[in-house]
Amino acid sequence: MDTVDVVTSNVASDPALARSRDRRYVWHTWTPLEADRSELMLSYGRGYRVWDVDGREYIDASGLNAVCGYGHPDVFGAISNQLSRLHHVDISVASHELLGLLAERIASYLPERLSRTLFVNSGSEGFDAAILIAAAYSSYLGAERTRIVTFARGYHGSTVMSRTLSGLPPTGHWLRDPVPVTHVELPVGSSALRRPESLPLLTAAFEHAINVGEPPLAVVVEPFLNVGGGIVLPPGFLQSVRKLCDLAGALLIVDEVFTGYGRTGRMFACQREDVVPDILVSSKGLGGGYAAIGAVTVQQRIYETFGKDPVIGGLRYGHTTSGHPAACAAALATLDIIDAEQLAERAERLGGILLGRLAAHVGVADVVDVRGLGLVLVLETASAQAAGRLNASLAAHGVLFRQQGQVLMAVPPLIIDEEGITAMADRFDRAAATLG
Ligand SMILES: Cc1ncc(COP(=O)(O)O)c(C=O)c1O
Repeated sequence: MDTVDVVTSNVASDPALARSRDRRYVWHTWTPLEADRSELMLSYGRGYRVWDVDGREYIDASGLNAVCGYGHPDVFGAISNQLSRLHHVDISVASHELLGLLAERIASYLPERLSRTLFVNSGSEGFDAAILIAAAYSSYLGAERTRIVTFARGYHGSTVMSRTLSGLPPTGHWLRDPVPVTHVELPVGSSALRRPESLPLLTAAFEHAINVGEPPLAVVVEPFLNVGGGIVLPPGFLQSVRKLCDLAGALLIVDEVFTGYGRTGRMFACQREDVVPDILVSSKGLGGGYAAIGAVTVQQRIYETFGKDPVIGGLRYGHTTSGHPAACAAALATLDIIDAEQLAERAERLGGILLGRLAAHVGVADVVDVRGLGLVLVLETASAQAAGRLNASLAAHGVLFRQQGQVLMAVPPLIIDEEGITAMADRFDRAAATLG
């Protein structure tokens, strides 16, 4: 396997010391205390590959924010140029040029009425803001609705508000829920759900949840259930849910935090079905992994009602770092690369090739289903243990996937080329062969 001069990074001079410092002082996110994340300590990245502090090389299919890859000189250049000009503006008191450019750019990918963007720092914050905005809007219309309908297996973030939306066990918490939520269970299993026959069942489950109980404020959906098990939804689902929302007078909030910016073969996954949400929340790919940034994009009619706010006559929400100039620069450079290199189309094409290679493994190494959407590839195995074994073998063979329970997911940078896809699939074949 290739190695790289790890001295180019500033962490790797003493890997043992770096690991012991990590074990002693760092609290890793979403990690059992007995697990040791410093076992995989990364130090360097270029294109679709990363190196650890020992100089081992991996094809990275785990770092899903890195849509235009590692070490991209254009993104670097844009960030450092902005940092040298002006590194901080509190946008509740002033503005900077990149804010308008980025908001206009996001609007350019969307239908005209979905045109007004609030910047945040993460997907979770985006959901806190989206729910607060929806509730305020309902109140300005005199409706005062608060109930949210969403997938039990959805995931929208880890703040108290955003995690309350989810019915997944890890998002449970010890505080009072801020809003009433009706969770919709999947009517069929994760591998059957993507089939067209599942659409009426899933639509009926949402229709029931919307119509039983107090009128809902909003229906919140991901176009693909990421954390909930890498689940592909049946074609037509977003259109069905849009119609249900219109009938019930509820807002449709689409979570494109994971799916946005080319990952699923379209700029936004809701464009696969020509569906226009009332509120679209995005993050991850927007900053290309170079900066923390999220966007809550709303229809202009929602924005306009905020003049009725009784306290300030506008939105009472924001962070001192919202719309950070360096993050906006990173996002604009990332979008330039996505557009110039047609990364959404590439995700559709290369995802199809990789799906074909991985699908050959159904029945091997406890793999029970292989599915995908653009450059999101999902391998469902028989158990979390089986997924763990396969994931460890993949890492030993130089490819990093993400594990979520019994599911493994590959989300490589969208700049990956055919050679990279072939190398990844070859390494996968070798890793699976060792497990029989
Ligand atoms: C669909 C979806 N929504 C929201 C979030 C939360 O985003 P963040 O981790 O940036 O807070 C995630 C993160 O994985 C996600 O996949």
